[in-house]
Amino acid sequence: MNKKDEGEGPNKHVMTVPHEWQHIVSQVLITPSEIRKRISELAVQLSTVYSKQNPILIIVLKGSFLFASDLSRALPFEHEVEFIKAKSYKGTDSTGIVKISGLESANLTNRHVLVIEDIVDTGLTLHHVYDRLTEAGAASVKCCTLLEKDTVRRHKDSPKPDYVAFYIPDKFVLGYGLDLDQRFRHLPFVGVYKQP
Ligand code: IMP
Repeated sequence: MNKKDEGEGPNKHVMTVPHEWQHIVSQVLITPSEIRKRISELAVQLSTVYSKQNPILIIVLKGSFLFASDLSRALPFEHEVEFIKAKSYKGTDSTGIVKISGLESANLTNRHVLVIEDIVDTGLTLHHVYDRLTEAGAASVKCCTLLEKDTVRRHKDSPKPDYVAFYIPDKFVLGYGLDLDQRFRHLPFVGVYKQP
């Protein structure tokens, strides 16, 4: 399956940056309606694989909280949810150290798990999350991510996400869960950060 079949390029629809966010966002990359449409498509795609498996969605906080809640409600099959926290960024830079917490109480033995990510950038976070889920005895581990960044910084051990809502250029983005030092997660669109 090539990139064209798996996900979409952003910004097919134009939306001007709302006045109140023009100081921080230079361009709306993905609009709320594009997000809704892709989530419906992903829900159909995921149901062909998972409808009889009662998978566990491993929701990687904080960045994927909006994507995961919209996707979960769109899935037409039974599934469970677990939340983990992964932290690797300071400002617009990856620290290279990934801290994962929250898996202690989950029983994943022989369960099919689907990691829900906000964005795969270097892929270091996903690499560490996959290691932990495999150690925990999952029957299968796959990933559905809102965004995959086109970057030369991709880590050599990064797993390839199986389901990608949108491919984006190598820019720092904000909104729909993604933050800049904990700010702007609540924006209903994905926008490009306006460098000061
Ligand atoms: P990775 O480990 O480099 O793939 O980065 C994963 C995490 O870094 C994501 O889950 C995000 O929380 C954060 N991140 C990466 N790129 C961006 C961005 O453009 N905006 C906001 N957060 C980002």
